[in-house]
Amino acid sequence: MKGNSYHWRKLHSLLGVIPLGGFILVHALLNFQSFERGPEGFANGVHFINSLPLLPFLEIFGIYLPILFHGIYGLYMAYLSKLNSVQYKFSRNWAFTLQRITGILTFIFVFWHFFNTRFQIYIGNNTHEELGSTMHQIATNSVFFVIYVIGVLSAVFHFSNGLWAFLISWGITISPRAQKVSSNICMVVFVLISVLFLFSLIAFTGEEFK
Ligand code: HEM
Repeated sequence: MKGNSYHWRKLHSLLGVIPLGGFILVHALLNFQSFERGPEGFANGVHFINSLPLLPFLEIFGIYLPILFHGIYGLYMAYLSKLNSVQYKFSRNWAFTLQRITGILTFIFVFWHFFNTRFQIYIGNNTHEELGSTMHQIATNSVFFVIYVIGVLSAVFHFSNGLWAFLISWGITISPRAQKVSSNICMVVFVLISVLFLFSLIAFTGEEFK
C-alpha cells in the first residue's frame, strides 16, 4: 500500500483540477446566467447542460466518482497528517490548515447542496424547470443564504489554493519566483470565481425567480 500511495496522491491531486476544477468553473459560469440574463438565461443554461449527450456518463465519471475519491482520500490524508503532526510542525502555515478545514466544509456542503437540488430531480420531487424557484427559496432563507456563502467560499478557496499546490507537486512552478507569481494568479482565480457564485446567489433572491 505504501508503495502505491505516491500514485494515489498524484491521482487525488489531478482529479482536484481535472475534472473537479473544470466543473466548479462551468458551474459558476452557468449560475452567473441568473445574474446576467435573469430566469430565462438561467433556464436556458440548465437546459443546455441537461441536453448534453452522454450526460449520466459525464456526471458519474466527471463529477460523482471524482468527488467521492477526492473527498474520501483527502479526509484520509488529513487524518494521517494529523497523526504525523510533529513531522509537519514546521511546514504548517495558515494556507495548509485552511486547505484542510475548507476541504471538510466543502465535502459536507456539496452533499447537502446536491441533496437539495439534483437528487430531488432524480427522485421525482422536482423538475429542471423549477430549479430557479428552488434556488429562490434557498437564497431568501437567511440561514441557508449564510450556509451557501460559507460553502461557496470554502469550495472556491479549496480549489484555488489546491491549484497552487497542484502546480508545485506536478513540477510546473519550481522556483520561488514562479510560486509567488502563481500564488497571485490563484488569488485572482479565487476572487473571480467567488464573485460569479456570490452574484448568482444574490440574483436568486429576486422576486422574478419566485
Ligand atoms: C451560488 C452557488 C451555487 C448555486 C446557485 C448552485 C446551484 C445548483 C443547481 C441549480 C444544481 C442542479 C443542476 C441541475 O440539476 O441541472 C446544482 C448541482 C450541483 N452543484 Fe451547485 N450551486 C452552487 C454552488 C456549488 C458549489 C460551490 C459546488 C461545489 C463544487 C457545487 C456542486 C454541485 C454539484 C456536485 C451538483 C450536482 C451536479 C450534477 O448532478 O450534474 N455547487 N447546483
